[in-house]
Amino acid sequence: MPAFRTLNDVDVAGKCVLIRVDLNVPVADGVVTDTTRIERVAPTIRELLGKNAAVIVLAHFERPKGKVVPELSLKPVAPALEKILGRPVRFVFTDWLSKPAVEVKPGQCVLMENTRFHPEEEKNGEGFSTLLASLGDIFVNDAFSAAHRAHCSTEGIAHHRPSYAGRAMEAELSALQAALEKPKRPLVAVVGGAKVSTKLELLGNLSAIANTIVIGGGMANTFLAAQGHDVGKSLCERDMAETARAILAGAAAKNCRILLPSDVVLAPEFKAGAPSRIASLAEITPADMILDVGPATIAAVNRAFDEAKTLVWNGPLGAFEIEPFDRATLACARHAAALTKTGKLASVAGGGDTVAALNHAGVAQDFTYISTAGGAFLEWLEGKSLPGVKALEV
Ligand code: 3PG
Ligand code: MG
Repeated sequence: MPAFRTLNDVDVAGKCVLIRVDLNVPVADGVVTDTTRIERVAPTIRELLGKNAAVIVLAHFERPKGKVVPELSLKPVAPALEKILGRPVRFVFTDWLSKPAVEVKPGQCVLMENTRFHPEEEKNGEGFSTLLASLGDIFVNDAFSAAHRAHCSTEGIAHHRPSYAGRAMEAELSALQAALEKPKRPLVAVVGGAKVSTKLELLGNLSAIANTIVIGGGMANTFLAAQGHDVGKSLCERDMAETARAILAGAAAKNCRILLPSDVVLAPEFKAGAPSRIASLAEITPADMILDVGPATIAAVNRAFDEAKTLVWNGPLGAFEIEPFDRATLACARHAAALTKTGKLASVAGGGDTVAALNHAGVAQDFTYISTAGGAFLEWLEGKSLPGVKALEV
């Protein structure tokens, strides 16, 4: 396991610290509507300020594509950051085209404008990396969820200043390493979501690591169809049948058990109030849509959880956005949470929909670790090295 420099390895007093965080948070009518990502990084910023560092916060917001887009300013995020930190935060507007005049004294915190306003940010250009580095003495990366991007503020800058993992990054790396690199076995992975095509590498990597993979969500239909089951008008990537069979064969060769649905919840359409029924795979008709896994499958998944010591969860088991198709996701999430609470299971979950589903089940706080990362969490499960993390290795 690679080692990382952390804030334990540096005296920040009197230094100017550039800290990269992920403030790509949902904003509606100028107000931040989910502050989870801000809450995760606040302790690191507070620690730096408490140690009398001058703090310059760097972050991106959405995808302005290298131009100043006023609607994508980070300005509305500054009050939310200030409130959660409990310390004043000064917002510094800049179009980044020249070196901004930033005056920040030890114990003070400024938030800089969206780094993606600069045309070089996403190209990891040397000019912008140098400019960012010139603003401070050391670099702290606390944005795991942006670490799959090799951008100036996540990767390039680390080559110009002594670089450290922030506390949130540290927590994320140790949780993910514990779950995937030296897991207590059996290790069960739940992989859901709509499409097999977006999770090919992930399934390939996980089948070499996990003892069992539970496949749910729309992508399970592709596997069922590939095995010759009629899936009616369900979401299904028919052109992926060959690939799906190869994944199953590959997993079998690696002694990884794949748990597919054995029964399902059907409806004529994906709509609130649509009449639904529980059915075996043999009972699916051409007019049906599979929208969740059924009770026998829920029981099988929960049995796999009972036997497991580690769980990694990415993607819901059914179309959890509409009742009653949230039933399997709720039941299995609650079972995993209960096992975690008694200390029998270490549970790690991540990916946008996954966190929303676990929040819907009311159990997010009971999992061992919930990643706020989307793409970065997926790439980690794919076994890829993330450039923002790599740049912090000693
Ligand atoms: C995210 O929201 O997942 C991260 O902030 C990365 O954003 P990006 O996909 O626009 O790079
Ligand atoms: Mg995003």
